[in-house]
Order: sequence, then C-alpha cells, then structure tokens
Amino acid sequence: MCGIVGYIGCQQAYPILIKGLHRLEYRGYDSAGVALLDPNGKLNIYKSRGKVSDLERFCESKDISGTLGIAHTRWATHGEPNDINAHPHFNESGSLALVHNGTIENYAVLREALEEQGCVFRSQTDTEVLVQLIDYIRRSSGCTLLEALREALKQVVGAYAIALIDAEDPDTLLAARRSSPLVVGVGKDETFIGSDASPIIEFTNQVVYLRDDEIAIISRHKPLQIIDANNHNTEVDIQTLRLSVAQLEKGGYPHFMLKEIYEQPNTLHDCIRGRIVDGCRVQLAGVQDNAERFLQARRVVIVACGTSWHAGLIGKRLLQELAGIPVTVEYASEFRYSKPLVGPEDVVIAISQSGETADTLAAIKMAKESGAFVYGICNVVGSSIARETNTGTYIHVGPEIGVASTKAFTGQVTVLAMLAVALGQLRGTLSTEEAAEIAADISRLPDLITEALQVDDIIKSLSSTYTYVHNFLYLGRGYNFPTALEGALKLKEISYIHAEGYPAAEMKHGPIALIDNELPTVFIAPNDDLHEKVISNIQQVKARGGSVIAIVTKGDTAIPAIADHVIEIPPVAECLSPIIAAIPLQLLAYHIAVMKGRDVDMPRNLAKSVTVE
Ligand code: AGP
Ligand code: GLU
Repeated sequence: MCGIVGYIGCQQAYPILIKGLHRLEYRGYDSAGVALLDPNGKLNIYKSRGKVSDLERFCESKDISGTLGIAHTRWATHGEPNDINAHPHFNESGSLALVHNGTIENYAVLREALEEQGCVFRSQTDTEVLVQLIDYIRRSSGCTLLEALREALKQVVGAYAIALIDAEDPDTLLAARRSSPLVVGVGKDETFIGSDASPIIEFTNQVVYLRDDEIAIISRHKPLQIIDANNHNTEVDIQTLRLSVAQLEKGGYPHFMLKEIYEQPNTLHDCIRGRIVDGCRVQLAGVQDNAERFLQARRVVIVACGTSWHAGLIGKRLLQELAGIPVTVEYASEFRYSKPLVGPEDVVIAISQSGETADTLAAIKMAKESGAFVYGICNVVGSSIARETNTGTYIHVGPEIGVASTKAFTGQVTVLAMLAVALGQLRGTLSTEEAAEIAADISRLPDLITEALQVDDIIKSLSSTYTYVHNFLYLGRGYNFPTALEGALKLKEISYIHAEGYPAAEMKHGPIALIDNELPTVFIAPNDDLHEKVISNIQQVKARGGSVIAIVTKGDTAIPAIADHVIEIPPVAECLSPIIAAIPLQLLAYHIAVMKGRDVDMPRNLAKSVTVE
C-alpha cells in the first residue's frame, strides 16, 4: 500500500525513482507523483492519477533533471484519487515537497488551526497538513527544517513514513517513520530510500531499517545520520540484504501470481530447509530459545488479517491437536479494539506475509503491553512485525509480488505445522514416532505440490465453464474449512466474482437456500475422517440441482461418481492437506480471472500490504 522512493547522489534521480515506483506497484495504488530538484534549485513536481506509466507519459515533455528527488504511489485514504490529491504535496511557495505513507488522524484540527493562520490548502489529503505545518513552524520560529520537522512530528497523531526535500538545501533528504515502513539504502556516494528494499536492491544491498520515531538525515557529502525523538544520535545499523533483482521479476510467466503458484515446490523447500533434523525432528530456534515460555503457556492467541488469518485458523487446529494448547484466532483489526484479556501467561502468534499490516502491528503492540510473549510468522525479513515481535520464524518463501497471496499461505501453514510439531515434542503431547511421521510428511510437501500442479490444464479447461458465473460457494470441513475460506477469497479478490466459504455442514443452516443450477459449489473433500460426511453434503447440493467441483484425493471413486468435475490431489496427511488443496484453488481463481480479463496481479481497490487502518 503506497510506495515511497527517494534518491540523492551523483546520478540523475528521475529514472531511478520511476524504476523504483514500478518495483513498488505490486503494493497497490491509485496515483503517482515525483518531485525533483533541478540544477538551478527549482523544485519540479509532477503528479498524475492512474498508473506509474501515466506519470511517465505526463513527464515526457517536462524538465526531469536533478540528482535529488522523491516519488510516491498513493493509495488514497483521505480525499479521492486525483491529480491534486496525489503526492508529493508542497508548501505554499512550492519550496518544500513531501511524500507520505500512512494517515494523520488529527489532520482536521491541525488544518483548521493552520487555516486560521492564513495557510491555503490545495488538496483534501491529511498529508498536506504535514508539509504546511512544517513550513509554518519554520517560517514562524525561524528554526531549521530539521527542527521544524521534529516539532511537527510531535504534534501529529497517526502513522507515517515520510520523505522531505527543500529547494533551499540541494544536499539533504530527510526521512522519518512511525508505524509505516521505510528503508534507507546506503550506496557509494549515493543514498536511496524505499518503502521496502525492492526499489533499492538493484543499486545496493546495504540497508538500514528505520525504527519508529527515528529521523534519517541523508546528506550528499556526509555519512548517514539517524536521530531519535529526543534528538539523540542512534546507531546506524547497516544490514546486508539477501535479495536478488531476479526474485522480483516475472521469469517468463505472464503474471507474478502464476509464477508464485508454480514456485511453491521451491519456496516450501526453502521454508523447511534446516528445520527438520535427521528427517524426524523439528527444530525451530524461536521455540528452542524460549522453551520455558511455551511450556508455561496457558493458551495461544493468533492474530492476523485476510489470508494470514485463514492460515491462523488451520494453525489453531494444528496446535490444539498436536501440541494440546488451547488456541483462539482473532482478526487483528477486531482484537485491537476489544478487551482481549491476554496476559503474561499467553503466547500471541502474529501472522503476516508483509510484516507491515497496520492492524496486526497494532495488535502486537497491545499484546506486548499486556505482558504476552509475541511470536511472529512473517515473510519479509526485517519488516516491522518481524522486528516488533519477541521472536518468531520466517517463512522464507521469497518476495510475493502478486496481490493475491499464494506461496505465503502455503509457507505460513507449513511453518504452523512445524511449530505445532516442535511444541508437541516440547510439551510431550507427541511421541517421538508421531513427531517423526509428521516431520517426514512435511519434508515431502515440495514433491506433493509438484504433483498437485500437474492438474493445471484440467483446471484451465474447467475454468472456461465457470467464467461467467456470478456466485460461487466453497465448502470444506475440519482442516479444510479454512481452505474453503481461502479458495473463496482468492476467487473474489482477483475475478470479482462473489464467493463465500462455509463449513460444509453449516450449509444446511442457511446457504443451501442459494443452491440452484446457477450456483456452483467447490468442495474441498480429500480422504480424511470426515470424508463420508462431506459426501452427504455433496449429495445435498446435487439433489437441489447445483453443480459440484470437488477436490479429491487420487484414487477416490465415491465422489467422482456424483460430482460434475473432479480435481485430484495426491494423498497427504490430513493435517497438511490444506497446503496441497490450496494449489488447485489458486489455479482455479487465476484462470477464471485471466479469462475475465482481470488485472490479476493488481486487482482493483486492493493493496498488497495494508499499512493504513
Ligand atoms: C490475500 O490474498 C490478501 N491480499 C490479503 O487478505 C492479505 O493476506 C492480508 O492483507 C494480510 O496481509 P499480510 O499477510 O501481509 O499481513
Ligand atoms: N493518507 C495519505 C493520503 O490519503 C497517504 C495514503 C498512502 O499511504 O498512500 O494521501
């Protein structure tokens, strides 16, 4: 959600900024803009509603010179997406330009106060308040820009990552953050900033993740300086990134989503690597180093959003069944505004692909304040959630660019399965043999996914039958009820077809009224303890004229006899079946969306990482 790029150095800034914006497009946005300081000290600001390519077209006949600049992709929170509300925003004289990710919650009060002092606003955004406030403080007190920025940030309530440049100081770029991500890339005689490392990695792998309430003072001729809220210098902790440009590109696939679906045998291999020892024991550093906390845990509370929440529901079953710990699963957005009653005896598990989801981050902060021990399951290394949690496990599935989460989901469930086994070993709820059996099944997952991907052509031809359907139902039981939710979410977010997921038996309590020959139902029905029950549910749909697409275990003969379409997956342990069953559901959503001509990687209205409330 929203992207920030900044550059100061010897090269022309514009091409670097535009390339960076393209790299951040996956996060989702509705408009884009750039501010460049030209060699004569004039600040040129260009903005446009729409895609980064629209901004590029707009800039074709413009002066794009300059070695200092900032750029932005906006995901509107305050004010409609249009040219004026696009960032960068600027002060009245046009000498200061600022880009912002996040929301300024007290913007209305601040704006009113500034208007009373004669400030004239151009946009409807909360962001413009920030730049006008900084300018007002500097003009009225005669302080430096840095002092004005510090003072302004004291007055704002909300979340921000910002970058600021000043026409009067061609040698400085200022950046700051609170609750929204910002990374500084340290090159040789040049410095970059980005909302994440993807716009930076092509130029340098040396990065610094800004912490909350820090300000980075990036000077052309001096080393990077970072100060905290009290104006004290803080340590510049430079980290070396292990990320390659190739990982950020499509590698011959028409869409990132398809590439990411097909990557899953490899990504799960990376996810498992080094964590299953001697083929029979799960070893997770985060568990080993905090064994006491896990042994004493009264219960586990999982917080997450969207697909990560679905993974959390599967995690609940895994942890309860394998490790014998009571688990509740909460939407982070609900948890943060409830009285969750968590305390020092609880372990809170936060699941997030991006590690930047604002609601999940807020839930973690609340849990920590209540004394709970917080364990993170993230993908993006160095992300805010990864840093905010007490410990955790990375899923290590590489950058996920498609807005629809695919490989992150299978990585999350795999880590949750490993965590459940590790805790089962620790708490003595799993025997050595039982743990070894599940560990061996986890090791086989990459091969099973390779096998599951072989049904792609069947799913593609099946998809054409359902392209113009308006509604879908997804049903599953036990471990695969959350898989049904995830299948429905995949379809609706990228094809815009309405889809609902339900526990199969719950259908009788309402949704069955919807069944007719225009409503197809996808059953997730592998061979498991509830197989017979699911067959009855399929019969109930067929008896009412509904068509059925069933995901079944290879060799099943009962369901193919009654379903309209069958998609086979290889046999797998019941507790791991959601990982394999997710593959055909991802492909089904993908092909239907492509056939409908949808923008699969960047569906409308959606953002890859939701860094605002
Ligand atoms: C999944 O396809 C979605 N795009 C979305 O639900 C996502 O899972 C959710 O926003 C949570 O993101 P996170 O895992 O990065 O926290
Ligand atoms: N709140 C700001 C706006 O609406 C920034 C949104 C974003 O993070 O892109 O312009």
